Amino acid sequence: MTQRRTSIHGSWSGRLAFVLAATGSAVGLGNIWKFPYIAGENGGGAFVLVYLVCIATIGIPIMMAEVMLGRRGRQSPINTMRTLAEEAGASHLWRWIGWAGVLAGFLILSYYSVIAGWALAYVFRAAAGSFSGATAEGVASIFEQLTGDPERLLAWHTLFMVLTMIVVSRGVRGGLEKAVRFLVPGLFVLLILLDGYALASGAFDQGLEFLFTPDFSKITANGVLIAMGHAFFTLSLGMGAIMVYGSYLPERTSIARTSIIIASLDTLVALLAGMAIFPIVFVNGLEPGSGPGLIFQTLPIAFGHMPGGWLFGTLFFVLLVFAAWTSAISLIEPAVAWLVENKGMTRIYASVYAGIATWSFGLLTIMSFNRWAEFRPLSFVPIFKTYTVFDLLDYLTANIMLPLGGLFIALFSVWVMKRSDSVQELDMGDGAGYVLWRFLVRYVTPLAVLVVFLNVTGIVDFSGLLGLAE
Ligand code: PFF
Repeated sequence: MTQRRTSIHGSWSGRLAFVLAATGSAVGLGNIWKFPYIAGENGGGAFVLVYLVCIATIGIPIMMAEVMLGRRGRQSPINTMRTLAEEAGASHLWRWIGWAGVLAGFLILSYYSVIAGWALAYVFRAAAGSFSGATAEGVASIFEQLTGDPERLLAWHTLFMVLTMIVVSRGVRGGLEKAVRFLVPGLFVLLILLDGYALASGAFDQGLEFLFTPDFSKITANGVLIAMGHAFFTLSLGMGAIMVYGSYLPERTSIARTSIIIASLDTLVALLAGMAIFPIVFVNGLEPGSGPGLIFQTLPIAFGHMPGGWLFGTLFFVLLVFAAWTSAISLIEPAVAWLVENKGMTRIYASVYAGIATWSFGLLTIMSFNRWAEFRPLSFVPIFKTYTVFDLLDYLTANIMLPLGGLFIALFSVWVMKRSDSVQELDMGDGAGYVLWRFLVRYVTPLAVLVVFLNVTGIVDFSGLLGLAE
């Protein structure tokens, strides 16, 4: 048996703290802001089905793999991968999984923080009663005023980055654990309330039908890639965030059980959000495929018309900010842990360094919504024709970097790491559960990622076979 390592960064106080922190990482803008708008853009039901299948067959197994690697290595993903590769007698190159993850986290946080800034701005709009009696045009104009003004976006982005770095600099227990304890339950309560409103709106059935009736002729190969990429994004997989959280996990916690709990909570939040939003979209004659502004242009209408709407609206956006906050922290944690381990920095210095770099890069996203709104850097590539700089950043990270990261994590866990080591670390025996996990990570994940990539790049075309749209 290998000697158990310990982390120099500390550890979670227990299993519940890990579940909350990992759920805090998973549940974020991805569930409430991104899932509804990409489901809307990609035709609804079929997209949702592909996403759910990806969560079950790729997401949960990869989450288990990441937690397992993290807990075994007990360091930042870069050093964990180096140590585990050495232990397995494999190439040092595997540590590049860690580096690619740090880069992905940095790129994602740079735009994530800008969007979280929108949510921050909306806390104040809601509290000031700006949505009361609002019409679709009214809320659209509030949204356009905000996103059209780079200085305002910059101010909110800056505030959000500062908030993030404050928690990161305080470390595992001091900052993170406390924040997540009331976030997740609070978010559930408010989403259910919004679903109640949607239920009474008269278009609930239409919303459900849009979300849950799959019509494969409405989804393209690229839509399938987006659904798969989103399964990684929403569960925070493929970049080391869950790996680094796993490195703070106490021994003797069931990795399988906790992963299933986290993935289920995450999926539930996304579906509750979708079920709240689409009825409001249909009742107000809005466009489901209207893009990143979707929740900011629909939910305020609901808040503007329900009794006590200003209060619920304020609470909702506060919780959205919290959800984004607990995810943002995990996006930068791999980089901060590495700076502490390898550069001998204190957590505070490491946080400031990483924070400033990410903040600066966020300017690209800010400009994408105003000064560069018409700039289409890759307009010569058909699928990127309408993509702004922000759209490209999002596509590159969520749909390419995270699935690729996940692919290599899968390959490492079952082709490189010794079977006996993964049996020991997963601690679920060598029975049916383990064999199923191993099968999914060994064959299903690599094949799925490969097939989807080949299809989107046009190297092989399976679209006809699956009845997908062109
Ligand atoms: N899972 C987060 C969300 O759904 O908003 C986003 C995210 C966090 C992605 C951490 C990746 C990550 F490593």
